[in-house]
Amino acid sequence: MRLIAAIARNSTSMGISIRNYMGFDNMRIPFLRLMPYLRKFWKIYVALLILMFVDILITLFFTWFLSHVADAAMAKDISKVRGLLLFGIVMVILNFAASYYETVLELDAVNKVRRELKLSLFQHMLRLPSSFYSAHHSGDLVSRLTNDVNAVEGAVGINLLNLIRMPIMALAAFVYLLTIHWKLALMCLFLGPAALLVGGIFGKLIRDNGRRLQDYLGRVNSLLHDVFAGHTVMRAFAMERKLEGRYRIDCDQVLSMERREAKLLGWLQAASGTISLTSFFISMGIGAYFVAKGSISIGSLLAFVTLIQHLIYPFSGIAKQWGGLQRSLAAVERIWTVMDEKPECSKFPEYIHSAPLHTGIQLNQLTFSYDDNRKVLRDISVTIPVGSTVAFVGPSGAGKSTLFQLIMGFYQPTSGTIYLDDLAMGLSDIGLWRSYMSYVPQEPYLFTGTIRDNIAGGFPDAADQAIIQAARDANAHAFIMELPEGYNTWIGERGATLSGGQKQRITIARAILKDAPVLLLDEATSSLDTETEAAVKEALLRLMKGRTTLIIAHRLSTILHADWIVAMDQGVLIEQGTHKQLLNNEGLYTRLYERR
Ligand SMILES: Nc1ncnc2c1ncn2[C@@H]1O[C@H](COP(=O)(O)OP(=O)(O)OP(=O)(O)O)[C@@H](O)[C@H]1O
Ligand SMILES: [Mg+2]
Repeated sequence: MRLIAAIARNSTSMGISIRNYMGFDNMRIPFLRLMPYLRKFWKIYVALLILMFVDILITLFFTWFLSHVADAAMAKDISKVRGLLLFGIVMVILNFAASYYETVLELDAVNKVRRELKLSLFQHMLRLPSSFYSAHHSGDLVSRLTNDVNAVEGAVGINLLNLIRMPIMALAAFVYLLTIHWKLALMCLFLGPAALLVGGIFGKLIRDNGRRLQDYLGRVNSLLHDVFAGHTVMRAFAMERKLEGRYRIDCDQVLSMERREAKLLGWLQAASGTISLTSFFISMGIGAYFVAKGSISIGSLLAFVTLIQHLIYPFSGIAKQWGGLQRSLAAVERIWTVMDEKPECSKFPEYIHSAPLHTGIQLNQLTFSYDDNRKVLRDISVTIPVGSTVAFVGPSGAGKSTLFQLIMGFYQPTSGTIYLDDLAMGLSDIGLWRSYMSYVPQEPYLFTGTIRDNIAGGFPDAADQAIIQAARDANAHAFIMELPEGYNTWIGERGATLSGGQKQRITIARAILKDAPVLLLDEATSSLDTETEAAVKEALLRLMKGRTTLIIAHRLSTILHADWIVAMDQGVLIEQGTHKQLLNNEGLYTRLYERR
């Protein structure tokens, strides 16, 4: 009852036409978006269409068969019955073959479309800017690539063909009905729109529910990602019970949406069944009257009743499939909210060796905010001559790492520009821009795979010799050789099987191999033991040699190495100069320096 109330409430409060409300218009957009993927496999779809016509013909044949067998039996014409049965057997065999190929081809089409969709969604995601990634949980993104892409099945498989089959079947059945008894046919005509109305209203409700459900599945995935990635923290702080509770709530929510869906499907099924039965009674009743009057035969009546079902079924009887279609369209919408995001480049950037830098880097009045609200950087201007080392210092949260993200082109400044020689950021191809830079992030990040792959990064066919040399320069070669399979050792998720210092040295080797003229070093805050720190530092010094280096320095020893120091606080450049000049200033730098 609540559902009916909801329908009534919605239809009055929305105050729009039934046609609009039923959401048939809104179905067009997701379908249009799927079209290029369907078109790619047009041959399979054409084959399926042909099979569908065969299917319709077989259906009509059996109706014709029914009426003729019945009439022949009434007329005691045994030889005609025998002939009809033989013909029927041929049709059964044809039906067998058609069913087999229909199933195989349909699944083939679905799987191929899903693969294409996954690939192009992934390709698109790879080109999206960092702002997109910081705004979405990785778990939710994975859910779009898995749950949502899988759910598309309902819109690209048999349901899609049913959208075509429905009107054709209904039309064929109706024409056949007209030939049997036109008055009776016209009387049953009102059933079509009734079935359409029911399908439309419940379709819309199922789709809305489906959208919520798919959104929620994304959130559940996010929780799971957090739990598995942070399992040690979870254990250390006894968060198991809390997290289990959250997961339980999530599962309950999913269940409640699934139950709502089940109820909607139930209503749809029941309403369609009722329409179908009503049509049966009406046609049977009126038909019996016509038979009694002698205007049609028993065989025709049987055929008539069967056809009525075929006329109604396309609109209503496929309630479950209609529901599935609607839920799929909700998933398509979720996929396209990602597809509609503007990528930062039209194709994947190449791993290129850039030209050398001639004059240096110029940061020109950079202002930036992550959320268009709070300014994280304000009016930052720094000149970095080629070959120099500039250290950025400041309290935590000053915006140092953010500044590096801007220089790497991960984010676009709100105002101001960055120049590499005469090349202005934004005017340059982002791949070319990044080819000038090597980056060692604050937290080392390694991909699941071998050590070799991690050092190589995007370098196509990096020679073993070059990889080993980079590792040597990064002071990583010795420990790598001690691992069971050397450079081919498989390191777990995010390099779980390596120590902090080892991970750092691999990220340094990766930066050395890239051999770019500009080096961005976001010094790790986590402290290493003195021996490892010395190894890391030595590697860094080797890396910095002959390059223009920007370094976020947390350690005094690094700062003393710099030609120029920039002190920042709360997004503002407080002072810049040489170590000596800044100490004379007795400002922020002096305070930071003295505290060390
Ligand atoms: N992706 C993000 N979205 C929104 N705000 C962010 C994001 N990353 C950082 N911030 C905010 O920007 C400010 C500057 O952060 P940033 O990481 O640049 O500091 P930092 O100077 O590198 O600090 P630390 O020395 O601790 O590494 C902080 O207030 C932080 O909360
Ligand atoms: Mg930082």
